[in-house]
Amino acid sequence: MPGKDGYDLVVVANRLPVDFSVGPEGDLTWQRSPGGLVTALEPVMQGADGAWVGWSGAPDLAHEPFTADGMLLVPVTLSAQEIARYYEGFSNATLWPLYHDVIAPPAYHRQWWDAYRRVNQRFADAAAEQAAEGGVVWVHDYQLQLVPRMLRDLRPDLRIGFFDHIPFPPVELFAQLPWRRQIIDGLLGADLVGFQRTGDAANFVRSARRLTGYTTRGPVITIPDADGRPGRHVRASSFPISIDSHRFDTLARTPEVQARAKEIKADLGNPDTLMLGVDRLDYTKGIRHRIKAYGELLDDGRLDVEHATLVQVASPSRENVGAYQELREHVEVLVGRINGEYGELGHSAIHYLHHSYPPEEMAALYLAADVLLVTSLRDGMNLVAKEYIAARSDDRGALVLSEFTGAADELSPGPLLVNPHDIDGMKDIIVAAATMDPREQRRRMRRLRRKVLADDVAKWSETFLGVLTAVPPRPLTVDPR
Ligand code: F6P
Repeated sequence: MPGKDGYDLVVVANRLPVDFSVGPEGDLTWQRSPGGLVTALEPVMQGADGAWVGWSGAPDLAHEPFTADGMLLVPVTLSAQEIARYYEGFSNATLWPLYHDVIAPPAYHRQWWDAYRRVNQRFADAAAEQAAEGGVVWVHDYQLQLVPRMLRDLRPDLRIGFFDHIPFPPVELFAQLPWRRQIIDGLLGADLVGFQRTGDAANFVRSARRLTGYTTRGPVITIPDADGRPGRHVRASSFPISIDSHRFDTLARTPEVQARAKEIKADLGNPDTLMLGVDRLDYTKGIRHRIKAYGELLDDGRLDVEHATLVQVASPSRENVGAYQELREHVEVLVGRINGEYGELGHSAIHYLHHSYPPEEMAALYLAADVLLVTSLRDGMNLVAKEYIAARSDDRGALVLSEFTGAADELSPGPLLVNPHDIDGMKDIIVAAATMDPREQRRRMRRLRRKVLADDVAKWSETFLGVLTAVPPRPLTVDPR
């Protein structure tokens, strides 16, 4: 049990907001990793006496809690076997495909589940140790769905929020999971469970009702107390996440980024239409569908490589997971085939970049791109779409956006919506985007920018924490259920 000097706000996420590196002498150093979540939470963490519990990203790395940028960072140690079973296994080869419409088949292994439970308990123990009495703990994402319940058992005084960054599947798919009841019970340990879309929240409430028999009324699930009388209430609602829109907007206006955008376009031979895809190399992103559509447009002669080129940034991701290795093979074979067939000296059809880039380079790429292609088969939100919009203070550019993204729910009308499974339909939309009249681009982009600049990530975290902190704190004696 913490003393009264614990932390008022504790964030629990799979990763810490820093990257560790081991120096030549075996010394450990860390650098801030500029992820979206840390940008979102930094202001509230610094203002609120905050601690962040997370994994360092490396095996067997043990480190005492330390202070960085005004918050306490609390590293959780994972062994190589736990990384294989909890992170690569249960999180990314069971839950990730199951929650993304089983695009790849989920694998169900009892050893992975055991590791998931054990590691979730470790995160819960670390959070319980740091939180002040009556404090707020905000748990993030699918890797840590058991933490709310474990934490409530340890610390019934806390107000506990959970935010799911990825989709929550319909009960018809979720029910495949052998440990479905445990996951629902884990999440129901929270006072507030947040999702990207109203549809995700509705899927969760339906699964909770079906699998537990608890009463639900709209977004509220009522958990009975020990005597079977109505006890605690859990609210499930949508809180669509965003980006630091103003920072991105400012970055994209700098002379350096503007000059770099021109340079990129010139290096590509100043094509009439530069199309851009930016994704983690993940099978949920529809990268193959997009490249296939582009290849067919070249086949059909509706586009040609002298006038239209595709830049595909595919940042390395989860490289030890089989489905990601297979995807890489498939994408690279496809890119090679199309480039071999249609490339000319000085004009590649597809510029495929298996790298990550800093925000300055990304902003320049967005500015250079006439069309952004977001063709996910399923995507919790898709922040790339929002970054593109935030970068376009010139009100130019066209956004092709899959209807299976959270962003489509939030940003429509404005983007050109596509069903990435419908290759013919997608080809027509890509051509429409490539030939869109500048006035139409402006009309759409202005509407999109109003939305993205108003609903930024600071508003997202304030809204979530506002709802969570409105839950009255509980005395330590209350029935923890
Ligand atoms: O979208 C879910 C998510 O976990 C993000 O929070 C994260 O940025 C991304 O996937 C990459 O995940 P990983 O931690 O597996 O590299």
